[in-house]
Amino acid sequence: MELINRPRRLRRNDAVRRMCRETRMSPDSLIYPIFVDETLHGVRPIESLAGQNHYGLDSVCQAVEECLAHGVNHCILFGLPKSKDACGSSAWDEHGVIQEAIRAIKAKYPDFYVITDVCMCEYTDHGHCGILCGHEVDNDKTLEVLSKTALSHVQAGADMVAPSDMMDGRIAAIRRTLDENGYTMTPIMSYSAKYASAFYGPFRAAAGSVPSFGDRKGYQMDPHNCREALKECALDVEEGADILMVKPALAYLDIIRECSDAFDLPMCAYQVSGEYAMIKAAAAAGLVDEYRIMCESAVSIFRAGANMLITYYAKELADAMKKGEIG
Ligand code: PBG
Repeated sequence: MELINRPRRLRRNDAVRRMCRETRMSPDSLIYPIFVDETLHGVRPIESLAGQNHYGLDSVCQAVEECLAHGVNHCILFGLPKSKDACGSSAWDEHGVIQEAIRAIKAKYPDFYVITDVCMCEYTDHGHCGILCGHEVDNDKTLEVLSKTALSHVQAGADMVAPSDMMDGRIAAIRRTLDENGYTMTPIMSYSAKYASAFYGPFRAAAGSVPSFGDRKGYQMDPHNCREALKECALDVEEGADILMVKPALAYLDIIRECSDAFDLPMCAYQVSGEYAMIKAAAAAGLVDEYRIMCESAVSIFRAGANMLITYYAKELADAMKKGEIG
């Protein structure tokens, strides 16, 4: 056979395959979600997310130590407050669950990078992501409480805030509030293209944030749309976002690609709870190889253009990257 082109030459062994990889990743690009429950002492497994835990304020440093042991140096915090009301006032309480969790982490691990999820749904008694007016979320009233919440996180020592509410104008509102209070150097990671997705199911069970009526389609994006994601990203860039995000990840690889091609900002992807839980369940049923599916999913997200990844698999992926099995 006279074959000049034999792509298999570069696939012959591990050494040459590793050398020729087009997608490079490192544990530096991983962010681990930590759930802190104000009513909890110690650690409690999360039923809807096999292998994940709720941490009490007395044990949140344990979650950080586990991250550090695997070489994961960034987290995103989610809070379960002891009390909820119509406007979610526990979200911006100076001594609220997130504010205290940040202080506990920073007292012991000042260099561990703490990002906070900024949203109202875990703090409102109706479970929607903002202040209600009738059965609708009032955009402009919600901007005030989001800004207050973000400011209280930063005042408690958060390194970065990540608004996930999908209100219009929230990046500008939060940026202004942070700047007016002297926090001009605190970056904002925007959940720019966040879709109204069924993949958040296990998270809502874990965070106690299932809406008591209706759904989130009035503020989160329609999965049919791509140009709208570009518009959301463009608005966030204009309003001063430092990092853009697409969420969920695996069912939205085209959106990650389009948005990372179109904008110069770093691009984050969120491999959400349903993506994780499906792999876990399929593996538990003996249907797939969990480790390989985890690795392949992460590679595909970075290959699509993500520069960083929020994932419940952060620790396991960091190990895989260190071994050179991916990355
Ligand atoms: C809060 C928020 C949600 C997630 C991250 N921040 C839930 C939602 O929007 O309903 C989902 C994360 C996941 O599923 O892992 N608004």
